[in-house]
Amino acid sequence: MPVEKIVIDALNAQMGRELEAHLQYLSISSWFDGEGLPELTKFFAAQAAEEHAHAMRFLDYIQDVGGPVEIPALAAPKHSFESAEEAVAASLAWENEVTAHIHAVLDLAIERRDHATQVFLQWFVTEQVEEVSTMSELLQVTRRAGERDLLLLEDYVARSVPTPQ
Ligand SMILES: [Fe+2]
Ligand SMILES: [Fe+2]
Repeated sequence: MPVEKIVIDALNAQMGRELEAHLQYLSISSWFDGEGLPELTKFFAAQAAEEHAHAMRFLDYIQDVGGPVEIPALAAPKHSFESAEEAVAASLAWENEVTAHIHAVLDLAIERRDHATQVFLQWFVTEQVEEVSTMSELLQVTRRAGERDLLLLEDYVARSVPTPQ
């Protein structure tokens, strides 16, 4: 059974959000580079690569079910931040937003009785639990370290945050 246009449109929109996340994390990574914090730079660059891989999963799936792939206009990422806390808090807010969108696309697939798309989206439901958990913890530690002790945060990122994949 071909995937309905309404579902393809929602998948294309989500692919766009993953690409926006890719750009946003690249931008945050570069901001941390400018702040002289190499571990956070590396962490967010890896996070950016992961978001690109998410977008490619959507692209492959849309192609597999007959497309068409339609990459939407992408919002420019935010490139400057007041503090490390602001950058990490923005990342957590973004992950919560992405989670809500993934759930909405899955709700649509359920409503349309589109089983293949439901199975495809399961992976993202699990992935978002991990992403939100990683960012929440990073935000807690960022707050605890405080802006004067960002080297402690660097140490934490180097030791404990699993490298995104
Ligand atoms: Fe993602
Ligand atoms: Fe993510």
